[in-house]
Amino acid sequence: MTMFSTQTRRLALAGLLAMALPGAGLAQTYPTKPVTIIVSFAAGGPSDVIARLLGEQMSKTLGQTVLVENVAGAGGTAGAKRLAAAAPDGHTLLIHHLALAAAPALYGNLGYDTKTDFLPIGLVNTGPMVVASKLALPATDAKGFFAYAKANADKLTVAHAGVGSNSHLCAVLMSQQLGAKFAQVAYRGTGPAMNDLVGGQIDILCDQSTSAVPQIQGEKIRAYAVTSTERLDILPTIPTAKEAGTDLEMTIWHGLYAPKGTPAPVLDKVNAALREALKQPAVVEKFKGFGTSVFPEAEWTREAHARRFLAEVDKWAVSLKAAGVTPQN
Ligand code: MLT
Repeated sequence: MTMFSTQTRRLALAGLLAMALPGAGLAQTYPTKPVTIIVSFAAGGPSDVIARLLGEQMSKTLGQTVLVENVAGAGGTAGAKRLAAAAPDGHTLLIHHLALAAAPALYGNLGYDTKTDFLPIGLVNTGPMVVASKLALPATDAKGFFAYAKANADKLTVAHAGVGSNSHLCAVLMSQQLGAKFAQVAYRGTGPAMNDLVGGQIDILCDQSTSAVPQIQGEKIRAYAVTSTERLDILPTIPTAKEAGTDLEMTIWHGLYAPKGTPAPVLDKVNAALREALKQPAVVEKFKGFGTSVFPEAEWTREAHARRFLAEVDKWAVSLKAAGVTPQN
């Protein structure tokens, strides 16, 4: 990447870490009331599932109830906007994925500054997307699906969770790979989109493995390809999209955020609770069963999250611009 020098990013990283206020005293009493984790998509989707799993574990360490609030809309940016306006006291947090980093390349008027309004607390999980269809689609394997989708694009509907969501970016990448234009149907999250895929109201959905794996195992949808470089242990018969002759590759990740101004000792306390949650066999096993993984322990620091976040903001700015995408209002 040439547009953003390492030094520029280092300065931004230092800025992000310095934006937390001192407030050591606060950390001793924090949290003094239930903590809310905002999820930027509808209930039942992958972000919601991950947030509830973490919230349950983190509440044990924090000694307070952790609530999940779904603030869906505008490809995940409505929830982000809510966090940016929240009191910076650690009682309102946000779990979000790479859409938070991609949004400035897609939306002209977010109502917040992506690089400075959110303080990264820690990375959560990383995993692939799964290209899937309703059972009634005639294709039975990946190569057959990509050929069928290319030939019948004008008759097929692809669901996603709003512009900039993982499912949307995956649909865009798939369209580019196939040179095919599908009719897109936007939902408030892939939870409801997956329900409609199972019900056969829509044809195709590229969703995170977290949501897709249980439906594939229940034989409610048909999976064709995973977007990782390797097959998933949990879906050994499903090829990578690359094996099926495309260059479709996409890895998603979730992280936890607090609003700008949250005291550093509070962030450290939340980071400690997050680390404790990520160590729990119940969480590790659940993630594994969904085909997603916790990050290596060396990357559980606030710094590692900030580094990845800033790098992804820059990466999506470059790649979406190169793809001819301009920010819309
Ligand atoms: C969701 O939880 O609905 C997803 O994370 C949405 C997406 O990004 O596709």
